[in-house]
Amino acid sequence: MTLQRLLLAAGAASVLVAFATPEGPATPAPLKTPDGLDAKALYMEHCASCHGETGDGKGNEELERPARSFLLGGYSYGNTQNAVRRSVIHGIPGTPMPAFGATLGADEINAVADYVISLGPPGTIVQPGESVLVVEDRPMVVKGMMPAHEQGAFREPRSLVVGFPNGTTFQFRAEDSRLLTVRQGEFLDRRDWGGRGGAELQPLGSLTWKASRASRDFTEFSDAKTGKGLRRKVKRTEIKGDDVWIHFDLIDGAGDRFGGGQEFLSFLMVNDVPVPMRAILGSGEGRAIALSELPGKKSRASNSIDVTTTPNGLVACALDDAPNMRIYLHAPAWTPSLAAAFDASLQKKD
Ligand code: HEC
Repeated sequence: MTLQRLLLAAGAASVLVAFATPEGPATPAPLKTPDGLDAKALYMEHCASCHGETGDGKGNEELERPARSFLLGGYSYGNTQNAVRRSVIHGIPGTPMPAFGATLGADEINAVADYVISLGPPGTIVQPGESVLVVEDRPMVVKGMMPAHEQGAFREPRSLVVGFPNGTTFQFRAEDSRLLTVRQGEFLDRRDWGGRGGAELQPLGSLTWKASRASRDFTEFSDAKTGKGLRRKVKRTEIKGDDVWIHFDLIDGAGDRFGGGQEFLSFLMVNDVPVPMRAILGSGEGRAIALSELPGKKSRASNSIDVTTTPNGLVACALDDAPNMRIYLHAPAWTPSLAAAFDASLQKKD
């Protein structure tokens, strides 16, 4: 399942032919796995340019954020053996750490992951506790109470938490289906299975994005006639292959249903680095709805796409032919490689 389904629902099929067909970089074939793997050689070939030859994090490559040193242990994105392997297979969304799942074979990944672990002090790797929920090979959706994500914020008694196999976790407020946080690492610790308010959940990943205070009350959609905001309310979630769909109702100020829509959660691969992508589509079912203005820097990208770069680290795309749809990319800027990956994802069929 891809963005295509949403586009078709948005009546934007004609946009598709407007794109030139980009010949994306061919996915390299997995390397053969010779017997007797040399983990250090694999490390030198694939990792040292960023993480340094000794693993001290001082590679030659210039990065917008430094690669980690492996010498001290202390993994931010999960300190279980599985979590370290996952970082290597899927990369770390929102950072320059690339995904190696397509370039290295499974035993090469295990070998190189064990190698970087061995560079750290003993005791770096722990066993996950029994109450830890682990996302395996399909996304997982959990509802429950989440702690406040910043000082002064309230606990979120009704949260919808979506975990992906690559270690990304999205936390939504169930009440209005607003995205509150994105985290990276292990998924959730579900400490209380029988609590009256539902399960109390402890997020285990590191925060990579959070809603600003202003955007916490932002509504994407409004009644086109009156300009009044429409609140989203989660109806159900659906896991389709690698992607997650959140179906919602649109509720007007009087509390009545005005229409509905979907939010689609997925990832764009940009030079092997996964970038979280959310597409939001609404429909007024008879009455017209409008998309609210976004704060940020607006520009006209090629091929009938308007792009807004928001102050809180999102690139929002609007397509001319899909007036009720907005696509958020969790990236700091609209770059040529992001644009190429985005074009390609619009054309990709199921
Ligand atoms: C293009 C540069 C680059 C390359 C190549 C690269 N990494 Fe990384 N890697 C990073 C960056 C940057 C981070 C840190 C992300 C952060 O902490 O914000 C990182 C983080 C990691 C982490 C997660 C550490 C944590 O805190 O949990 C692991 C594990 C890792 N890299 C392993 C590898 C291995 C193994 C290879 C080679 C197969 C490799 N990396 C190649 C840039 C790179």
